[in-house]
Amino acid sequence: MRLDKLLVELNIGTRSEVKALLKKGLILVDGEKINKPETKVDENTVVVTYQGRDYSYKKFSYYVMNKPKGVITATEDAKEKTVMDVFYRLIPDAPKGLAPVGRLDKDTTGLLLITNDGVLAHNMLSPKRHVDKTYFVTLDGELSGEDIKALEEGVHIGEGEPTAPASVDYNGGNTCHITIHEGKFHQVKRMFFAVGRQVMELKRTAFGSLKLDEEKLPCGQAKEIDITNIS
Ligand code: URA
Repeated sequence: MRLDKLLVELNIGTRSEVKALLKKGLILVDGEKINKPETKVDENTVVVTYQGRDYSYKKFSYYVMNKPKGVITATEDAKEKTVMDVFYRLIPDAPKGLAPVGRLDKDTTGLLLITNDGVLAHNMLSPKRHVDKTYFVTLDGELSGEDIKALEEGVHIGEGEPTAPASVDYNGGNTCHITIHEGKFHQVKRMFFAVGRQVMELKRTAFGSLKLDEEKLPCGQAKEIDITNIS
């Protein structure tokens, strides 16, 4: 790969910015100053140093965010603040081209996977793979045994077919955990609506093998994770 292309992919700057940095000798490539943007480098092995920090190329990167309320799950939007606006403000040197996997509503908080690995994203979202999603739900009232049975067996949310089997963890009061294997639009809110309850707060606590640990990842924060954690 051309050196200037690699530097852009590493999010060190735009094409013209990285050319200027190279010209000024501010970038080390495997410890050596290289000024020519067109120099070919092996992106799989090269280490680039800029402002005392080492950068190496990764084909794919994976991050988790504890999504705050008030931002939409999109990469960009003309009017609304997006999760990616928040994300790049938190981690400005993360590689470009990252996107959220799946969607949480504007008022939903919790676990969001962010990556540039399109195949993994597709697999995590594919209805055929039934990837579990668990939500902590705050309701406007209590659930009856019948409500729980209906939610677990499948309820009609206006899609023709009832929802697929789910599991509900309820110990009384106005909160519960629900695990679903599908990802229909507003699915959790619509499922509770179908049993006469309104969702007041919604937080995703797990997505596949990823679990939200709010002590390590408070609401509004993001961090890089290793691919071995994901399935
Ligand atoms: N179900 C919903 O209703 N909203 C979400 O954000 C996620 C699942």
